[in-house]
Amino acid sequence: MGALKRLIGPTWRFRAHHLGRLRWLTKYRLMRTYGAEAGWRQRLAFVLLDPEIESFSYELDDEVQAISALAAAVGRPAEELLAYAAEVREDPELGRRLWRHLRWRFDLKRRPQLGHRLAWYVLVRAFKPKLVVETGIYLGFGSLALLRALDRNAEEGDPGELMSFDIVPAAGAVVREALRHRWRRYIGTTKDTLPAALEGRQVDMLFQDTPHTEENQRFEFGLALSHSGERLLLMDCSGGYAPTLRSLCAERGGAYREVAMRSRGHIHPGAPLTFAMFDNRPRAPSGDVG
Ligand SMILES: C[S@@+](CC[C@H](N)C(=O)[O-])C[C@H]1O[C@@H](n2cnc3c(N)ncnc32)[C@H](O)[C@@H]1O
Repeated sequence: MGALKRLIGPTWRFRAHHLGRLRWLTKYRLMRTYGAEAGWRQRLAFVLLDPEIESFSYELDDEVQAISALAAAVGRPAEELLAYAAEVREDPELGRRLWRHLRWRFDLKRRPQLGHRLAWYVLVRAFKPKLVVETGIYLGFGSLALLRALDRNAEEGDPGELMSFDIVPAAGAVVREALRHRWRRYIGTTKDTLPAALEGRQVDMLFQDTPHTEENQRFEFGLALSHSGERLLLMDCSGGYAPTLRSLCAERGGAYREVAMRSRGHIHPGAPLTFAMFDNRPRAPSGDVG
């Protein structure tokens, strides 16, 4: 299977995902892997009808609880972060305009939800980063959530930009042209494109969503750390297992966090959000005692 994937290359693999709705065997296997707690109706609907075979979009089970736990993890008031989360429900670009943009896409859900990417939106709203980096774009749901948060920040006087990286030229199709003015897409492996793109730049947040191997994560996280602004947030988007990020925190003095994000009405149960915060601000000298 691995050899076949290598043979057909990333662009054709990407196109094959457009047949997701019809890939019943793949979905059956996914359902067996994830669907232990889902009811039989949910499991059947997933196998027969769902167009998504990876990077699932779903609603969060208990948004208030998940966002409150996120607030506690980053040391901010829950009310503030819940107010950012509420913006998503009212945002036409994440609702009706998105659904309109996708209306002829047989390969996508008619009304996709942000799922765990709601937390990405909330973190960008809370920290007002100047530069956000996302490695791995795929259809662009993550990019869209990050761009909308950056738009809201800019409206409030805190502009920022997003750099996203993927090997597939068509990546990011769900982001409408009108929403791309704060976005730079780089096409090529991150090994080839990330170092030059970050030359002379300070990174405030990095969402790591290319392969989550130790080698690749050390490369991408390591670059962000060497271009770190005063504060840096590194998100491991692997879905709950982040040994490399834990090690980096131990080695470089970061604070590692895990926040539960359970799904509702989906075979994928959801996974903890795993991220780390690095604070490079100079420490105030401690006063002399005596
Ligand atoms: C899990 S998807 C990204 C999902 C996206 N962040 C989202 O929120 O929906 C992974 C993407 O990484 C891309 N990719 C894989 N290896 C890569 C590499 N070495 N450099 C850049 N992109 C890569 C794939 O083409 C794929 O589109």
